[in-house]
Amino acid sequence: MLPLGNPAIGDDFIDREKEIEQILSVLEKDSILLIAPRRFGKTSIMRKVEKELTDQNKICIFLEVEDVYSSEHFLTEIVMALVENEKISKKKNIISTLKDSFKWFKENIEEFETPLFKAKMRSNIQADLKKDWKGKSKMISEIINMTESNIYSIVDEFPVAVKNMKSKDAEEFLHWFRKLRQTSKNLRFIVGGSVSIDRVVRNVGGASLINDFKRVSIDGFQRKSALDVIKKVFREEKWSYKESLGGKILECIGEAYIPYFIAIILSAIKEEKVLRGVEIDEESIEKIYNSRILGSKGKHYFEPYSYRLRIFYSDMEEKAARAILRKICRGDYYSADLAFGIFKQETGINDYDIFMDLLADLSNDYYIEHDPKNGLKFYSKMLRDWWRLYHG
Ligand SMILES: Nc1ncnc2c1ncn2[C@@H]1O[C@H](COP(=O)(O)OP(=O)(O)OP(=O)(O)O)[C@@H](O)[C@H]1O
Ligand SMILES: [Mg+2]
Repeated sequence: MLPLGNPAIGDDFIDREKEIEQILSVLEKDSILLIAPRRFGKTSIMRKVEKELTDQNKICIFLEVEDVYSSEHFLTEIVMALVENEKISKKKNIISTLKDSFKWFKENIEEFETPLFKAKMRSNIQADLKKDWKGKSKMISEIINMTESNIYSIVDEFPVAVKNMKSKDAEEFLHWFRKLRQTSKNLRFIVGGSVSIDRVVRNVGGASLINDFKRVSIDGFQRKSALDVIKKVFREEKWSYKESLGGKILECIGEAYIPYFIAIILSAIKEEKVLRGVEIDEESIEKIYNSRILGSKGKHYFEPYSYRLRIFYSDMEEKAARAILRKICRGDYYSADLAFGIFKQETGINDYDIFMDLLADLSNDYYIEHDPKNGLKFYSKMLRDWWRLYHG
């Protein structure tokens, strides 16, 4: 069975060959912003890239920064990841740089493996950086420049960390981060996250602070890969597979074939089969979709999509967005002009450009698709069905 929420790694990781190839090729010259909303498989892809790079004997560090709240905390995570990487920490000149920078950094780096030592080290580094993170941060560039080979740094949930910082701190951090990328020619970042980085940087320094990144978008699975995932699970579970069953599952999910949505349906099918001995046929799949996914048990699966409007949109934007989504979820395409009418009514703003900005945000956050000819519709059929039930 597919993992239901945790990243798909090892044998569970399916497809994404094109994306991985594209990422590795862009990394030769540039750093990458990985663009995709929640649950599209970003972390799984980042972990796969980490494995590919490590297998090629490259230096690769992985930072998960969702719980980072300040510049000094972010820098602490970088220093820890550098020290934890054997290829880096074995170099004598690097250890002496660290010792020069942090007075408490003693000879006993060999004890590093013990969790207690690591925890103490992390809090000591952070306390030290708190006093003067910009001054001490020079040491990070020094270490990176001393490591002659490329260093690949994968940062998951980056926009959340920036959003967590106080705005002045966030702006200073983004300036520093940009300078680090400019001055360290052997450093590459793959930065990803579930919320729109553009929205987050808009209020703290603006787009110019991240415009050196090359953007790689992650979409849902192609139909063939989606069917391969389903077939693989049927095989593993020893359920007999027919084309029509795979087709029915994809019909319920609808485009886009978001990996997590596939995992949700398959695990619901498994539960119904194990607990109630339900036979898997087209009718039962449809029933499971309606009762388990769209029923009360399924409410929590998509709640983050609704919650995100509250957290990342202003009150007025949220109000207008909800009113527009409420209309769009009822059918297929909805006219953009009518949506502008709703926007005016909800916000009292008669400005088409501001309305278009909101549509761009909703498209970038994968709520809607905006087709200039036909109008607006939900990006995902499954999310649309869910929205209609709970927010329609
Ligand atoms: N390549 C893949 N092969 C198989 N399943 C996948 C793949 N990518 C994603 N999934 C499914 O989607 C789920 C979410 O994957 P992952 O955690 O990588 O997404 P994410 O975009 O990082 O999510 P979040 O927004 O919560 O951070 C996994 O638990 C798995 O069910
Ligand atoms: Mg993730």
